[in-house]
Amino acid sequence: MSEGTIALVTGANKGIGYEIAAGLGALGWSVGVGARNAERRDAAVEKLRAGGVDAFGVPLDVTDDASVTAAARLVEERAGRLDVLVNNAGVTGGMQQEPTTADLATVRTAVETNVIGVMRVTNAMLPLLRRSAAPRIVNMSSGVGSLTLQTTPGAETGPLSAAYSPSKSMLNAVTVQYAKELRDTNILINAACPGYVATDLNGFRGHRTPEQGAAIAVRLATLPDDGPTGGYFNDDGALPW
Ligand SMILES: NC(=O)c1ccc[n+]([C@@H]2O[C@H](COP(=O)([O-])OP(=O)(O)OC[C@H]3O[C@@H](n4cnc5c(N)ncnc54)[C@H](OP(=O)(O)O)[C@@H]3O)[C@@H](O)[C@H]2O)c1
Repeated sequence: MSEGTIALVTGANKGIGYEIAAGLGALGWSVGVGARNAERRDAAVEKLRAGGVDAFGVPLDVTDDASVTAAARLVEERAGRLDVLVNNAGVTGGMQQEPTTADLATVRTAVETNVIGVMRVTNAMLPLLRRSAAPRIVNMSSGVGSLTLQTTPGAETGPLSAAYSPSKSMLNAVTVQYAKELRDTNILINAACPGYVATDLNGFRGHRTPEQGAAIAVRLATLPDDGPTGGYFNDDGALPW
């Protein structure tokens, strides 16, 4: 068993996920850089290591059973357990997405990645998380997954989104179900919104930096034992569902 804290961040080769890995690494943690592309993964690991982070690469496509199983095996062989899982990998499928003309393959890919991918990775990592003294799971959601905000006149919830926003609403709903099932364990699981962040995801139109977007995930990854579970937060506090 490794003595230091072990974290895994999915989709950590760039954007917010990279900065989450950097932020957790700055705490002295060992951080698995989950990424599906070998070149991008190696480059991220190298850059994190150059910055003093104890980073290691974890080949991981969240939509692929065999890849996720192998990732869990790799973490087990390296550390014997997992303390923190950040389910950050996500896709939009492009914007904007009118429901009446939506490409259903795009909807399917968004759900497969943003929801089922999170469940696949979480369930594969749970045996390792259960060995931790203070397991934390952070699901990177989005404010656009808030049905309350989507139906509040004047609230800024972006363009029409038949695939992406509903996938994040479902991710929120799934997060609540996990929290209910795991209520009597020491596992805390929460959903996070990073704000509107300049990354590849939105053609770098966001007004926040990836580092700013990573802050809420780092906070939820480092919750004390009496911290919340089954919640939905951004930097300012709880978000409406
Ligand atoms: N940017 C924003 O304003 C914003 C706002 C709210 C929520 N979010 C959420 O924040 C998270 C990170 O987004 P970002 O803005 O940092 O976007 P990004 O720069 O596009 O990064 C997305 C990451 O997810 C990875 N990924 C996608 N599909 C994957 C799969 N099947 N398996 C493994 N990795 C996969 C990507 O890997 P590749 O490099 O291989 O594609 C990339 O590393 C997402 O969940 C997103 O929905 C972002």
